[in-house]
Amino acid sequence: MTKAIVARGMTKICDDGHPAIAGVDASFEPGELSVVCGENGAGKSTLLRAITGLIARDAGAVALADRPRPPATPDAPEVPIAPGAEAALAAGLCMVQQHLALVPIFSAIENAVLLARGGLVDRSAIEVLLQATLDRLGFVVPLDVPVGKLSVAERQRIEIARAVAAPELAGTKVPLRLLALDEPTAVLTPAEADGLYAVLRGIAEGGTAVVVVTHKLDEVRKFADHVLVLRRGKKVHDAPFVRADQDVAIDQVARAMLGDAHAHLAHTHRSSDRAALGGTPAVVAEGLALGALRRGTFAIYRGEVLGIAGVEGNGQGELVAILAGVARGWTGRVTPGPEAVTAIFPDRHAEGLVLDATVEDNLLLGSHRDFSGPLGLLDGDALAAEALRRAKKAGAPTTLDALASSFSGGNQQKIVVARALGKSAPTVLVAAHPTRGVDVAAAAAIHQELLRWVAATPDRCALVISADLDELRTLSNRIVVLAHGEISGEFTPDATDAELGAAMLSVEKHG
Ligand SMILES: Nc1ncnc2c1ncn2[C@@H]1O[C@H](COP(=O)(O)OP(=O)(O)OP(=O)(O)O)[C@@H](O)[C@H]1O
Ligand SMILES: [Mg+2]
Repeated sequence: MTKAIVARGMTKICDDGHPAIAGVDASFEPGELSVVCGENGAGKSTLLRAITGLIARDAGAVALADRPRPPATPDAPEVPIAPGAEAALAAGLCMVQQHLALVPIFSAIENAVLLARGGLVDRSAIEVLLQATLDRLGFVVPLDVPVGKLSVAERQRIEIARAVAAPELAGTKVPLRLLALDEPTAVLTPAEADGLYAVLRGIAEGGTAVVVVTHKLDEVRKFADHVLVLRRGKKVHDAPFVRADQDVAIDQVARAMLGDAHAHLAHTHRSSDRAALGGTPAVVAEGLALGALRRGTFAIYRGEVLGIAGVEGNGQGELVAILAGVARGWTGRVTPGPEAVTAIFPDRHAEGLVLDATVEDNLLLGSHRDFSGPLGLLDGDALAAEALRRAKKAGAPTTLDALASSFSGGNQQKIVVARALGKSAPTVLVAAHPTRGVDVAAAAAIHQELLRWVAATPDRCALVISADLDELRTLSNRIVVLAHGEISGEFTPDATDAELGAAMLSVEKHG
C-alpha cells in the first residue's frame, strides 16, 4: 500500500526571528491532488521546502504513514523521514521550486546529471530517462540547449520532468510518493495550465500525493481534491474540496486566505470601459525580429494599454528586450527608443532583482543618478524617501534595509513593480507578467497603480504581456495575440477565452 506523507509541527524561524511557519500540521494522501493557498509571505513555499528537505526546519517531523487523516493512531505505524534533502528524496519526496533552480549555462541533460549524483551516471541513460519522462508528460522541450536560452515556461517543464524522474535519477528504488509544485501555473496560459493539471491527475492516479501551490482560485475550483490555506505562517483551513457545493467551498477558501474583511477582493472584475484614446500613436513598431520574434508590427496609442496574449516563447521575451534596450542583433524599427521605456522583465531573478542587495537599492536601481547633490554625492535622505514612496505606492515591502532575498516570491515581485512604476520620466511602460505570483489583493492594487501610472500624463502608454487572460482584459484597451513570432489577431477586451485561445494556437502562416 502506498503511504501518505504526514508532517507535524512544522516550524521555520526567519533570520529576523519571526516565524515563517509555526507549528503547521499537514498530510498528503496518495492519489490526491492537494492545493495550498495563501497570501504572499503566508509560508507556502517554506512549508513545502521544509517537508522536502530543501531548507532546514527549526521544529517538526515528517513521516510516512498508513492512515494519515485522521492523524495516525498508535496502531498505524509511521516511518520517520530524517531531515534533509537526501532523506526526503530517498523517501520519494520531490519538489519543483517557485524560482527555478536550473543552472542556466547547462543543458537540461547536464542539469539532470547534476541531480543524479550517486545514482545514474551514464549520460545517455539519463537522456533516455528524461526524454521518456517529457514524452509521458506531453512536454516538447529541447534537452540539449543551455536552459538559460529557454523561456521560463520551457524551463519549468524541464524542472517538472526532472522532479518526476528524480527518484529514478537518484537511483533510489522508491516510487515518487510526493510531488510538490510551487506556483507551477504562474507562467502558463489557461490552456497550458489545464494540460498540466491533466498530467498531474495522471501522476496522482499512479499513487503519488500531488501538492500544488497556486493563487488562482479557479484552479482550486476545477482541480483540487483537498485544500490547505496558510495565513501568516499558520494553517487556517484544511479540508476536502466539496465540488457539489463549490461556490460555498471557494468562498471559504477565499475568506481563510484574506480574512473576512477582504473576501470581496477575491472576485476580480473586468472593465473594458475606458475613456476615448488619443489618436496619435505613442509607440510605433515595425517588423521587429529577433529569435522567436519574427515580425513585431504594432502601434500603441497615447493613453492606451495594449495587451499581448500568447503562449510564452512566441517572441514575448525578445519583444521586451528590444523595447527596453537590452537586446542585441535585432532588426526592424521602433520609436521611441529605450530611454523612454520603463520595464518589468519576465524573469524577475535574471533581470529584475538583485537578491543580495537591499530593498532600497532594488527600488532605486537605475535612478541613483537623479539623487546626486552638487558635489556628485548621493543624498541619502532623499534616496530613502524616494524608495519609501515607491514601495508604498505599489504595496511593496517598506523595510528598506532588508535584503531582497529575504522576501517571499510575491513580495519580491512587488519590489520589481514598485521600481518600474516609480520612475516618472519614461512615457512607455513595458510590463511582462506584472502580477506573477502576487496574491489576489495585491494584484488588484498593482493593476490600479499601473493604470494610474499610464493616466498620470497624457503622453503615456503601456504594453502588458500576461499569461492571465483576465489580467489582460482588466488592463487592456486592446488585446493582440502573438503567435509564431507575429501578431495573429486583434481583439477588444471582451473577447472570450475561446476566441483568444484560437488565435494563440493559430497554425503557422508561411510566406
Ligand atoms: N531566505 C529567507 N530569509 C528570511 N526570511 C525568509 C526567507 N524566505 C522567506 N522568508 C520569510 O518567510 C515568510 C514566508 O515566506 P514564503 O516564501 O514561504 O511565502 P509564500 O507563502 O510562499 O509567499 P509567495 O506567495 O509570495 O510565494 C515570509 O515572511 C518571508 O519574508
Ligand atoms: Mg512562495
